[in-house]
Amino acid sequence: MAANTIELNRSRQDFAGIESIWLFGYGSLIYKVDFPFLEQRPARIEGWARRFWQGSHDHRGTPEAPGRVVTLIEQPGSICKGMAFRVSPTVFEHLDHREKDGYLRFTTTLTFDDGRQEQGLVYIATEDNEAFMGHAPEADIARQIAAAAGPSGRNDEYLRKLAEALRHLGDDDPHVFMIESLLPC
Ligand code: SIN
Repeated sequence: MAANTIELNRSRQDFAGIESIWLFGYGSLIYKVDFPFLEQRPARIEGWARRFWQGSHDHRGTPEAPGRVVTLIEQPGSICKGMAFRVSPTVFEHLDHREKDGYLRFTTTLTFDDGRQEQGLVYIATEDNEAFMGHAPEADIARQIAAAAGPSGRNDEYLRKLAEALRHLGDDDPHVFMIESLLPC
């Protein structure tokens, strides 16, 4: 799949006649909310696990020294907690640009804390995208993150801010917290 997903995302969903739609954020979209939204609620999606398996060449790394950011990996029985935002479809112009290094918009079922469910969208970088890095031991991921930085800042800042946001949500994500604990002080 092409490294830049802007064009692919443009043709993925038809927003004709849709005033607002839920967007599920599980990574930087939880803590870096640089887009307008109508409503925000903690939510979860089922069957997906958050993993630092996606390379970042444009935000938290460079083409020569990529960083690592999170994507979702299909895993039956897993629950991924995050934040849902009800947004106007016009925000995807900005977000598709922000998420262009391999992420595609997928439709998913969101469950809110009160058990109510809604259909929404989520950005996922699947393993066939050029920036995908995949599994590595958590100590190696921590070392890579500690060394990387890009136009959006240091890669360890992405990890620490995400871990902090997950603590606020009451999430216990062993993968994220393990990598955070392995960062050099
Ligand atoms: C997300 O936060 O939902 C997508 C991944 C990211 O931008 O970190």
